[in-house]
Amino acid sequence: MARILTGIQSSGRPHLGNILGAILPAIELSKNPQNESFFFIADLHSLVSLKSGPDRSEYVRAIAAAYLAMGFDHQSNVFWRQSRVQEHAELAWYLSCFTPFPMLANATSFKEKSEKLADVNAGLFTYPVLQAADILLYDANIIPVGKDQKQHLEMTKDIASRFNQLAGEDVLVLPEPQIDEHIMTIPGIDGQKMSKSYHNYIDIFLPENELKKVTRKILSASTALEDSKDPDIDITFKLYSLLASETDIETMRQNYISGGYGYGHAKQALYECILEKFAEPRRIFNYYMENTAELENILTEGEEKARNIAQQTIRKVRKVLGFSS
Ligand code: ADP
Ligand code: TRP
Repeated sequence: MARILTGIQSSGRPHLGNILGAILPAIELSKNPQNESFFFIADLHSLVSLKSGPDRSEYVRAIAAAYLAMGFDHQSNVFWRQSRVQEHAELAWYLSCFTPFPMLANATSFKEKSEKLADVNAGLFTYPVLQAADILLYDANIIPVGKDQKQHLEMTKDIASRFNQLAGEDVLVLPEPQIDEHIMTIPGIDGQKMSKSYHNYIDIFLPENELKKVTRKILSASTALEDSKDPDIDITFKLYSLLASETDIETMRQNYISGGYGYGHAKQALYECILEKFAEPRRIFNYYMENTAELENILTEGEEKARNIAQQTIRKVRKVLGFSS
């Protein structure tokens, strides 16, 4: 049985890119009875960039509600928030003492972000060590992540090997990343990669009127209504193609080519398609966002399961390091 583990930062509400690019593929993997899935909300990681406590709690709830709304079975898997299992932070400290400074200093993600961000804190620097702790605490085998996380996974393996070498035994299990090259980058409403940092995302859980407003804002050319349009360069069409049925996509393609069909019509069709496709997830999402006590209970149950396993690893690590009596 393979242990699948992945985390998502609570630095914003989940958007269509997160859902199609990370949440749904992870849920798909979790449906294989050969797998045991460990999904957590990386709220400690979110502190690197997000300092507001109320916003963090809101985003944690929204991400948890989104996983449940998209069909994640929290009962037969493990689903929790990272900050509630203190062993993550504890192991991160131990591992940081096995992490060479240049490994962190040369990490691509650190280098890119430290050039762009105003707040370059030590958490940004040691981010990969906490990520290694997240993975190694649970003896996880397979880590489904986006391409941008490949280096972090290599660092995790490297740190684990150094630790095992010192211990003289395989205390920590070396994980394998699972990078699905077929998962496409979902475009945002401006055509760049959809991302919360670019404020170009579609939050499919918004109330209807707000969702409609966002879809209306999708960038489009200024081709006149009666003229023929090229569907393959249009953002609305691209987004529609990710969600609609083959027949509906083909109909929209023909409408673009024939002319007499405006971008406004396409945006309205996309809006209706989101409402229809995600009707049930929207209902479940709203249910959990209104019944937060129920959501808390689910996360607390998951936390207990996670803690049990994390503690077993931490005990072994403490023993090797001479921290246990
Ligand atoms: P954001 O770019 O909004 O900050 P994150 O970096 O928190 O998103 O990404 C969380 C997960 O969602 C990652 O696994 C990432 O690969 C996936 N993801 C984010 N944006 C997209 C996108 N536009 N297309 C596909 N997957 C995405
Ligand atoms: N760094 C990951 C991201 O930004 C989130 C993350 C934190 C994670 N800990 C993890 C992913 C452990 C996989 C395993 O997407």
